[in-house]
Amino acid sequence: MHELGTSRRPDWPLAVVVGAGGLGIAVARRLGQRHRVLVVDVDRTRADSAAHLLCDEGGDADAVHCDITRSDSVAALAREVGGRGGFRVLAQVAGLSPAAADFERIVRVNLVGPALVTRALLPLARQGSSAILIASLAAHTYTPSPSVDALLREAVDDHTVDRIAAELEPDDRTGAMAYQISKYGLLALCRREARAWGRQGARIVSLSPGLIATPMGAIEFRNSPVKRELYARTPLEREGTMLEIADVVEFLASDRASFISGTDILVDGGLAGTLRSG
Ligand SMILES: NC(=O)c1ccc[n+]([C@@H]2O[C@H](COP(=O)([O-])OP(=O)(O)OC[C@H]3O[C@@H](n4cnc5c(N)ncnc54)[C@H](O)[C@@H]3O)[C@@H](O)[C@H]2O)c1
Repeated sequence: MHELGTSRRPDWPLAVVVGAGGLGIAVARRLGQRHRVLVVDVDRTRADSAAHLLCDEGGDADAVHCDITRSDSVAALAREVGGRGGFRVLAQVAGLSPAAADFERIVRVNLVGPALVTRALLPLARQGSSAILIASLAAHTYTPSPSVDALLREAVDDHTVDRIAAELEPDDRTGAMAYQISKYGLLALCRREARAWGRQGARIVSLSPGLIATPMGAIEFRNSPVKRELYARTPLEREGTMLEIADVVEFLASDRASFISGTDILVDGGLAGTLRSG
């Protein structure tokens, strides 16, 4: 039932957007044109202000506070989504940059968190639902050792971080390594889980952005000579925009992408291909 004087749209399907940072807001805005949106973040103020922003623009949005690394918090999120009748789209955007935290925290937020969220929300997926996990170009520029590769192909659990750390020399347990491993792990997660999602009539896919102009990306540029070098090698000779990522998320969430599952979509201006070809 439409409520007079509000922009509530109970007839619209639900999009759950995890992460209310730069890219998360861009994705929520785009999905909010045709979905009710649940904006989820560990930072309550960020989630609230993103939901207000969407409502001020005529959208139908609510905020949920959730730490995706904690199973009790993710279970509460699943109850919230279940109470709204399940979801049509899950956009898992939240992630930490290589410089944002230590090895363990980055793997927890970027890999264990998305594994907990996708596992908890899968039973609430319906025919035509989709999960889109934001990975990174970093997943395409990293080759793990055979033992780390084997670990990343297994289901992710609370011990995953310790098991991976045990395979690395102490000096290799850096933020940059955690970022590459966790994003590589997200691609493996989508490949592995596609069958379970398919049984629900749903799809799961990762999206790997290259260099994208975001507040997080700008900080990385200041701190990382490697990133400036990558910029110089991008065939399209510019960063991508958050709108260009939102375009692809919108497509992947739509029925036009109805046969895309268990794979990764690179949106990097051609950079990974250039790096591979030497
Ligand atoms: N900017 C780029 O060039 C680029 C390139 C490739 C991939 N990415 C990926 O894009 C994604 C989002 O980037 P962004 O610019 O929006 O980042 P951002 O730092 O602006 O936002 C990340 C959000 O995640 C939230 N978060 C952190 N830990 C959390 C937790 N435990 N539970 C719930 N929420 C948590 C933060 O509070 C924050 O709001 C990341 O996964 C990043 O790796 C970005």
